Amino acid sequence: MQIPEHQVEEIRANTDIVDLISGYVQLRKRGRNYIGLCPFHNEKTPSFTVSPDKQIYHCFGCHAGGNAYKFLMEYKNISFVESVQELAENLGIKLEENSAPNTEEKSEFEELYEINVIAAKYFSNNLLKSDGGKIAREYFKNRKIKSTTNTTFGLGYALPEWDKLLHHLTESKVNLQKAKDIGLIDTRDNGTFYDKYRGRTIFPIFSPNGRVIGFGGRVMNKEEKTAKYINSPESKIYSKRKTLYGLYHSKEEIRRLDRAILVEGYMDVISLFQNGVKNVVASSGTALTEEQVLLLSRFTKNIVVNFDADLAGQKAATRSIEVLLKNGFDVKLISLPNGEDPDSYINNFGTEEFNKQVENAKDFLEFQTEQFSNSGAFDDSKKSAEAIRELVKYVALIEDELKRNILIKTISKKFNLREKLLEKELDNVLELNEKNETKSKVRIEKKNTTNISLLQNETDSNASFQFEKELIKLMLESSEEIIENVLDYIHPDDFKNKTFNTIASTVEKCYHKGGIATSQIIEEISDESVKTVALSLALGDEIISDKWNKKKDDEDKIKLNHLQKAKDLVRKFRISLIDSQIKANNHQIVVEENEEAIMELMRENKELTLQRKMIMDGEGNSDLI
Ligand code: UTP
Ligand code: MN
Repeated sequence: MQIPEHQVEEIRANTDIVDLISGYVQLRKRGRNYIGLCPFHNEKTPSFTVSPDKQIYHCFGCHAGGNAYKFLMEYKNISFVESVQELAENLGIKLEENSAPNTEEKSEFEELYEINVIAAKYFSNNLLKSDGGKIAREYFKNRKIKSTTNTTFGLGYALPEWDKLLHHLTESKVNLQKAKDIGLIDTRDNGTFYDKYRGRTIFPIFSPNGRVIGFGGRVMNKEEKTAKYINSPESKIYSKRKTLYGLYHSKEEIRRLDRAILVEGYMDVISLFQNGVKNVVASSGTALTEEQVLLLSRFTKNIVVNFDADLAGQKAATRSIEVLLKNGFDVKLISLPNGEDPDSYINNFGTEEFNKQVENAKDFLEFQTEQFSNSGAFDDSKKSAEAIRELVKYVALIEDELKRNILIKTISKKFNLREKLLEKELDNVLELNEKNETKSKVRIEKKNTTNISLLQNETDSNASFQFEKELIKLMLESSEEIIENVLDYIHPDDFKNKTFNTIASTVEKCYHKGGIATSQIIEEISDESVKTVALSLALGDEIISDKWNKKKDDEDKIKLNHLQKAKDLVRKFRISLIDSQIKANNHQIVVEENEEAIMELMRENKELTLQRKMIMDGEGNSDLI
């Protein structure tokens, strides 16, 4: 679907970004802006900033940022069109379907999703209907997967030949290079394409909103000497770290029960789900990442971890506990009998038994104690002390002081240790953590300040770099007067710094299109790193400046000040341009042999000097030079 540009603008203009984000993030006013804890990374002190004036947000910690559309896209993992649709709905604006034939360029994301859908349908058809798919039908039947489950999870089968999908994609007029980018096909040394998934059962991976973002493919015969699973590579639409397998199917149930069950594998999710345990997601064979935990926390903060009983599974469980505790989750764990995974357990013992396991899940402290005990950590007193210290470290990750105290009491009882002793140990760890956090915060802040100064090339003199930076900042103030003033005298190409040059040309482009809102300009910038610079320039000063705390009467004064400042900067900028031109001409004069050319250069310099004087004298505001 293509939404007409004027409606995209209308919706943006009528949406208040502060209202929108407040629905998801707790914001409080700080000066002119609002700040809160960033929903895109884990932090304890807010660096997430929302500007009501500029209608943009930016996180100074993780550099996420953009306008209202971008926020929804990132937060909900949806496409641009979907985010426009959602905001239109909020405003009660009815979207006009574009009547023009659908030849317009689709967004690249849309195109990639479409390719995946074509592939997913093809694989599914192989499984459900093709002759060659019989073996896969048998396979799933043996594994007790019902045919309705095949459809629910879009399961499929890749035929064993090397070019079946390739042919289908070609017939469907798919851009093969793009199909390669998302890992469906690959190229041989001689440049010809071949299927990546052959003779494998296929598990489509969905985004939380049900888009097919990738695939896992499992060998049919475990004895085969290839990887058991191959999975889609990282791409524009798939990031393993950010994905929880099964979330699209389970999110409603997770919300309803306010609890999620975390398992390792695709098959675990599918088996539990078809047996009625529908609040299940998989991390896909690794410990949980911070991103996955943040994603899950939108649906619940209660989790029951049920990894495999083998060593790898238990290690992954231990590592996941850390990330979960840090993010405020209530963590419980299930240890199934050796050799069982959730899939085999529910098939062998039934749903009721599985649910009992969930109800009797151990809290993380019990689980961890047992882990230590099994590895002989309590066999002598020295090792015991170490193990207990480790337990206290986990407790220290929990933000809630009351919860921490209760857990310390539990440990004290369990190991018959004085509470005071454990409290002291806890205090030590907390103090250490705090120190480390401040250190890493300083690191982040340093990174932010250098972030922009790093842009400075060797060719940029410090002075011109500062000029340009200040001017760009002012151009991002959404003031028509300021932008006009700059563009009247300075061409975007005059900005020596490449990043500033790009931002300036974008401002110019937007100005000619008639939309100079900061949020529009930001959206127009396609290069992510340039966008980050623009965002932090647009918001940067206001965070540390308290001038915004002043009364509303002062606002006009501030605006006037800014216009004045812009005019001064423009003058300085023009003068510096003239100076460098004169300098360049002088160099040329020295090496030039043609007398005519030398005369011409000298005339030009005279003209430039005159211009320079006029600028210096003119406009009656020479006090700053
Ligand atoms: P498992 O080996 O436990 O697989 O790996 P499974 O899902 O239970 O499959 P079955 O029951 O043996 O058929 C757990 C998860 O680890 C990832 C997959 O996401 C898998 O579901 N994995 C495993 C890989 O990505 N690659 C591998 O080679 C193996
Ligand atoms: Mn399994």
